[in-house]
Amino acid sequence: MSEACRLVFSFSTFPDLLGRPTVPGTKDGLIKAIGPADAIQKMFSEETFEERIDCSGKCILPGLVDAHTHPVWAGERVHEFAMKLAGATYMDIHRAGGGINFTVEHTRQASEEELFCSFQERLQRMMRAGTTLVECKSGYGLNLETELKMLRVIERARRQLPIGISATYCGAHSVPKGKTAPEAADEIINSHLPKLKELGRSGEIHVDNIDVFCEKGVFDLSSTRRILQSGKEMGLQINFHGDELHPMKAAELGAELGAQAISHLEEVSDEGIVAMAMARCSAVLLPTTAYMLRLKQPRARKMLDEGVIVALGSDFNPNAYCFSMPVVMHLACVNMRMSMPEALAAATINAAYALGKSDTHGSLEVGKQGDLIIINSSRWEHLIYQFGGHHELIEYVVAKGKVI
Ligand code: NIG
Ligand code: FE
Repeated sequence: MSEACRLVFSFSTFPDLLGRPTVPGTKDGLIKAIGPADAIQKMFSEETFEERIDCSGKCILPGLVDAHTHPVWAGERVHEFAMKLAGATYMDIHRAGGGINFTVEHTRQASEEELFCSFQERLQRMMRAGTTLVECKSGYGLNLETELKMLRVIERARRQLPIGISATYCGAHSVPKGKTAPEAADEIINSHLPKLKELGRSGEIHVDNIDVFCEKGVFDLSSTRRILQSGKEMGLQINFHGDELHPMKAAELGAELGAQAISHLEEVSDEGIVAMAMARCSAVLLPTTAYMLRLKQPRARKMLDEGVIVALGSDFNPNAYCFSMPVVMHLACVNMRMSMPEALAAATINAAYALGKSDTHGSLEVGKQGDLIIINSSRWEHLIYQFGGHHELIEYVVAKGKVI
């Protein structure tokens, strides 16, 4: 981060979650100091800053963290939305060759440049809605060639764009036509993962997490176990889809394998919840999907009561076309009965935890990355209370200490 990116937020007395007036100053992309506005102003009075932002009457919050997205693809599925509204289930469409398989066909045909352009636009829309760190999955290639194409696109964005990215290899997103789940698992373990290891060593592609869609009719529990275990052995964090449409004992498996996060969990068992809490395995809940597919809501309250680290994600994909973490928080509060502070924590520090980045991201603390948003309201709750139209509310989005 160059000196030109130094930034201080001044003349502001806004309450943090504990009601104290605080103000952060960022320097070299990191948060330099936090404290009462007058003390911070004194601390920085000698220094010249590239930019000072008057935040009087506004709120500063940590940049939002989106813990689960599928943002690289071609082949949108608005026609399937109409089918779902008419009563088709997600799996009806999947079994008929639509769903993920439809997007896979189009993504295989798309050029790397086309995929990058649409991905970049989507990331910009996410940033505009306050997201400064996002998990991005591959998974619409299924074959090695297209999975690598997607991961290269994610890598390019990671290097070129201001938003933080946690990259996930999700080659086990669906079982390719003509294969069984164990056969697809063999191919991933024997061909895809060794290639990723090689590209990781040469510094061409950086992958953080490994994902599997563990679901009845997709990847069974034992194939899921084999893939996740192999990914873990090569140093990837386990972060996978589980217990979404059917109870699979995915939570129990994830806790046993030391998963960093499991997503969905609409059908998680009581034992799975306890196992996740004990293992400090976070739950990434996806209110958009439960809403869109009219699924049973994940039991957020039970998870919170049992001490599970609950995070949130938009699940942006052609099935759940939502870029906005404020909308996700709103849905989490209304449909999953989370409180507003719980939803904010789930969309910031807990989501950073789900990505293994809570030491550096997800909260306003000295030494952490200068990722924050400034909202044009004296009550931070407006970010959640308001249903849509956040562009006017979110006045600045700051990533690595720089207004974007
Ligand atoms: O998290 N459940 C699996 N994967 C995605 C859906 C992907 C798709 O339908 O294209 C999800 O909801
Ligand atoms: Fe997903």
